[in-house]
Amino acid sequence: MTHFSEDSSRLSITHISVTEKKYDNGQLPKISDVAVVLLPATKQRQRSSSVNLLKNILDSVIERLGPNSTLVTIGETPDLVHAHTHLSTFMNYQLWVAIKRTTPREFDDKTALPEQHFGALVHTKYSGTLNHTKTRIKYTYCPACEKTTKDYGGKKHTYNPYGTLISDVWRDISANPDENLDVVVERFADLLGIDDYSKLFVLDYRKMSVLASIAEKPSEYSGQTSFLSTSQLELDQSKLLLGDALEELRKLPDNSVDFAFADPPYNLSKKYNSYSDDLSITEYFDWCDEWLSELARVLKPGRTCAILNIPLWDIRHFLHLEKNLQFQNWLLWLSCRHSNHNTWSKNSLKLRELPITP
Ligand SMILES: C[S@@+](CC[C@H](N)C(=O)[O-])C[C@H]1O[C@@H](n2cnc3c(N)ncnc32)[C@H](O)[C@@H]1O
Repeated sequence: MTHFSEDSSRLSITHISVTEKKYDNGQLPKISDVAVVLLPATKQRQRSSSVNLLKNILDSVIERLGPNSTLVTIGETPDLVHAHTHLSTFMNYQLWVAIKRTTPREFDDKTALPEQHFGALVHTKYSGTLNHTKTRIKYTYCPACEKTTKDYGGKKHTYNPYGTLISDVWRDISANPDENLDVVVERFADLLGIDDYSKLFVLDYRKMSVLASIAEKPSEYSGQTSFLSTSQLELDQSKLLLGDALEELRKLPDNSVDFAFADPPYNLSKKYNSYSDDLSITEYFDWCDEWLSELARVLKPGRTCAILNIPLWDIRHFLHLEKNLQFQNWLLWLSCRHSNHNTWSKNSLKLRELPITP
């Protein structure tokens, strides 16, 4: 067993390969418990047409979901961003799980980082926090001292002999999103094996021919990747500017920066002396959009910009940046989490790079 779910009754799994005929004729079942939608990867340069199709597919699923149901959407990161944007109008966002790829995806553009993960979005029809079983995975051990890599701070009562609570980064199992996903689906069947649920339907759209024709390895950049010679407007290297980020960015010339990394306030209502971390979400995104646009403006063509934030805010940044920059990678790391808190780690990092136009 790859995990242990306390008090879970594994949901019965029904796999439906969705063909055009089933899709067009509305032959999908009503789903009162759990639906797992498997999406094919869409082609980056055809994304606007595929996004519309994605929305239609999701609409056809949403209308079959009962009021207490959970929807898991599995696919590549950029497709999940667009799936979330549509789903969030009708459903409650709960979780973004990153899942390790068995085979990292390599790109023809050798400057691109190999993709190490794909994802699963969890939305519910009900409001409130996600109802799930307490699920644990095996510990990992330090090769030097052979102790668990989980730090209990000396609190033995928080130690569980089976393992540590699962987070939203699944590295202990792996799969490829275009291949057999049983190991992932079975984990959701246990994780969501709560008293109210008994059935899980897998709606597999990966072979639907209209979608298969737009599926490919996305984000193979075919534009300019060569490094530029010194710009006429080049700044002194390694200059430290102290001030308001937006004000300082506005003083920089276009196309003058080699690499930009931003670790902004996350707007999670933390107490700071010098700035407010509890803006309204509209104010926060308006402010972020301003400095994100400035970062895109000052970047030299072909260079990279990296933004760090929590997944839900990253989704919004992605949609804003996608207008001017080409998506490159979505990176993530695990934050520490105390073992007796049944919460999910949240930090993620994404990279975006390669301005489309000089
Ligand atoms: C998430 S923290 C970054 C922490 C930093 N990466 C580190 O390791 O120390 C966000 C930082 O943004 C700074 N900050 C907030 N508003 C700012 C603004 N308008 N311009 C520049 N920095 C700002 C805060 O002071 C805080 O240090």
